[in-house]
Amino acid sequence: MTKVFIETYGCQMNVYDSELVESILKSAKFTITNDIISANVALLNTCSVRENANNKVLNRVHELKQMNRSLMVGVLGCMATNFKKDLLDNKKLKIDLIAGPDSYRALPNLINDAIESEHTSKPFDVTLSEFETYDQIPAARKEGANAWIAIMRGCNNFCTFCVVPYTRGRERSRSVKSIVNEVNELVDQGFKQVTLLGQNVNSYRYGSASFTDLLFEISSNTSIERIRFTSPHPKDFPMDLLQLISERSNICKQIHVPLQAGNDRVLKKMNRTYTQFEYLALIKKMRQVIPNVALSTDIIVGFPTETPEEFLETAKVCEEVKFDHSFIFKYSERPNTRAALKFPDDVSPKEKTRRITTLIDIQKKHSLEKNKRWVNLTQEILIERVDNERIIGRNDANVLVYAPKKENQNPGDIVKVEIKKATPHGLQAIF
Ligand code: SAH
Ligand code: SF4
Ligand code: F3S
Repeated sequence: MTKVFIETYGCQMNVYDSELVESILKSAKFTITNDIISANVALLNTCSVRENANNKVLNRVHELKQMNRSLMVGVLGCMATNFKKDLLDNKKLKIDLIAGPDSYRALPNLINDAIESEHTSKPFDVTLSEFETYDQIPAARKEGANAWIAIMRGCNNFCTFCVVPYTRGRERSRSVKSIVNEVNELVDQGFKQVTLLGQNVNSYRYGSASFTDLLFEISSNTSIERIRFTSPHPKDFPMDLLQLISERSNICKQIHVPLQAGNDRVLKKMNRTYTQFEYLALIKKMRQVIPNVALSTDIIVGFPTETPEEFLETAKVCEEVKFDHSFIFKYSERPNTRAALKFPDDVSPKEKTRRITTLIDIQKKHSLEKNKRWVNLTQEILIERVDNERIIGRNDANVLVYAPKKENQNPGDIVKVEIKKATPHGLQAIF
């Protein structure tokens, strides 16, 4: 019996994909194990979005081989499609098989091929598909409060800094019917929240159905208590979508709106397709239609040729919007992206550090200010974890909440708590 150990890096899509892989392998009679020492195969589901994501995995391959010399190591996910055969040809790495994000149905065969040839054949499949959505494959989810569910895959936007369109291929969406059916099954299994996933989740389109139509169907034809979605693109937020979010109590009032940069010249060079003015107008519209909406963002500092003055415009947008939360990254050149081919990575590491520190400080201030708006209010918390004394969950705005534990409280329960204290990182409550 082949025992497979799976480890996941990168974004939520990879977490979900690992659950798909587990499901596919279990159907093919493989055993999934958490114990690396007894495992025959380790599959690393990898990320290529920044260089340190890559490096982490390459170090891990060495480490795993040292822990278990007979282990067969497979690389899945974005590094597989990014590096393709180069990964296998690298003699030092000793990777035995690779499979890209659209090749997971082939994994049982790839693994068996590698085993039968006693490591001499190094099977790989990194073909990207215009159709694969893994429709009808139920992900092997762990118990808990939230279930991830990919509704679309791929990206057609080609932001110049980003490797994702190359590693994940073109956009394609799952049918409304199969998604609604799956959400109903998840409700039956006890999940309280679904997070709809896609590299451009709000570019979802199936036949004539838009993302708004899909959200409406899930919101009205299932009894899931909380619906979230990530990661959207600012270009696809029509009014009907904002109105729907505002009207439906089971759609969380929390939206991720990746900004990337505040200066128009930089935004254009990034191929983001909006200006600072258009971005700010969208934020204003969101706040008008969805009062108290929680907003988060992604930002890149030190994109090639970004000047200190242009960076200040990013800081200015942050000051103006006051995001509840943000993910801030130093620009990391990704081979073969348009930015890597056309623009030298000319902002020094020191300057990138200075810029990221500036934004992190601003964000801490805003997170504290934003989190304070929940203090002295009663909030419904979806419990994610419990320990001996505390429950740890999230409110509708997705802010972490810590509260003293009462009897019979378990992950997945929704409880009402009164918020007493805010920090930049979360909220504390009493009952
Ligand atoms: N599809 C999503 C997220 C893609 S990756 C979206 O468009 O929002 C998540 C984030 O990583 C991006 O929003 C961006 O801020 C960051 N990122 C992508 N490529 C990067 C790079 N080359 N260097 C630094 N950060 C990057
Ligand atoms: Fe990358 Fe841009 Fe696509 Fe997001 S929208 S995955 S940042 S290319
Ligand atoms: Fe990384 Fe691929 Fe996700 S590059 S962020 S694992 S889409």
